[in-house]
Amino acid sequence: MFVKNAWYVAAWPREITNKPLARTILDEPVVLFRTTIGKAVALHDMCCHRALPLSLGSVVGDALQCGYHGYKYDASGACIDIPGQSKIPPHARVKVYPTVEKYHCLWIWMGEAEADLSKIPDIWWMDHRDWKPSTPDMAHLNCDYRLIADNVLDATHLTYVHPTTIGASSIVEFEPEITHTQNTVRISRWMLNRPPPPAYAKAGDFGNAHADRWAAVEYWAPACCVNFAGCVDVGFGGAGKDIKASPRRVELVAISLPTPETAGSCHYFFAFARAFKHDDPEMDRFFGPGMVKVFEEDFAILEAQQRMLEKYPAAPRVSTIYDRGPAMARRMLEKAVAAEQSGTR
Ligand code: FES
Ligand SMILES: [Fe+2]
Repeated sequence: MFVKNAWYVAAWPREITNKPLARTILDEPVVLFRTTIGKAVALHDMCCHRALPLSLGSVVGDALQCGYHGYKYDASGACIDIPGQSKIPPHARVKVYPTVEKYHCLWIWMGEAEADLSKIPDIWWMDHRDWKPSTPDMAHLNCDYRLIADNVLDATHLTYVHPTTIGASSIVEFEPEITHTQNTVRISRWMLNRPPPPAYAKAGDFGNAHADRWAAVEYWAPACCVNFAGCVDVGFGGAGKDIKASPRRVELVAISLPTPETAGSCHYFFAFARAFKHDDPEMDRFFGPGMVKVFEEDFAILEAQQRMLEKYPAAPRVSTIYDRGPAMARRMLEKAVAAEQSGTR
């Protein structure tokens, strides 16, 4: 269940060096490396000679050399050297995947259609001076990547999965508003005049005071989700209010960019950006290792769910009003996959 003609995060740019990196993406083996001029290259990870994964070889100059008989491939995927033979067959090449570095991510295009730069998810917060980004290490999860959108689109789990950090029982007191376009779903709610969750109370110096809190999330097909979260002093929150006028403010986005590895596993890239306390090292820790701990609470849930879904795929399940948003996102994705497979996308 993958859309192939889309940009996915292949790696954080810091992961790509002159050591080959193997990563399976949408069920295809990919090898990633960086040339001497700093260009990140993604090739099919299988030598066209005797099928050894090229990731077991080494980067020599701007080429990737196979570790078996020494064939070398350039950044276009063409074989440029066969030791002991001067003539190189024209079909001696491997597939090259378009890549681009933007928003602190290395994006890869796996589909056959021409790579369309305008389709890179517009996660502009990662590159804006009012926002401070952080990109924790990717997490490899043994779960279907679609469970991640299900998870972040339903904020009612916060109360039970994250009770000591970003959870608060007031979430279900406030009905979410759901809107959508052809490729996006937005679910948002204000939680006015309630105790903020423990992590926000601390980050925003709210102490025991109540706050006006928001939690919104957008799904952008096929795989990106952006969570908007924060709180302000009571009276400064709610539709049409200027949250920036609040004396105290916690304001962040959490961006989920899961890249399918196989049908039952994914590479979960997630990033944070905050629009307050940029120069506070304690907040750097909070929105780095601290938020990773919060996400790890989800990882355990997601992998446990996957195990049950694999074991009991036909077991009946119940949906409630809070599943409307995730269900819309699933339908959107199914439509996109069907359209791509029938060639109408
Ligand atoms: S398998 Fe790669 S050079 Fe022979
Ligand atoms: Fe969560």
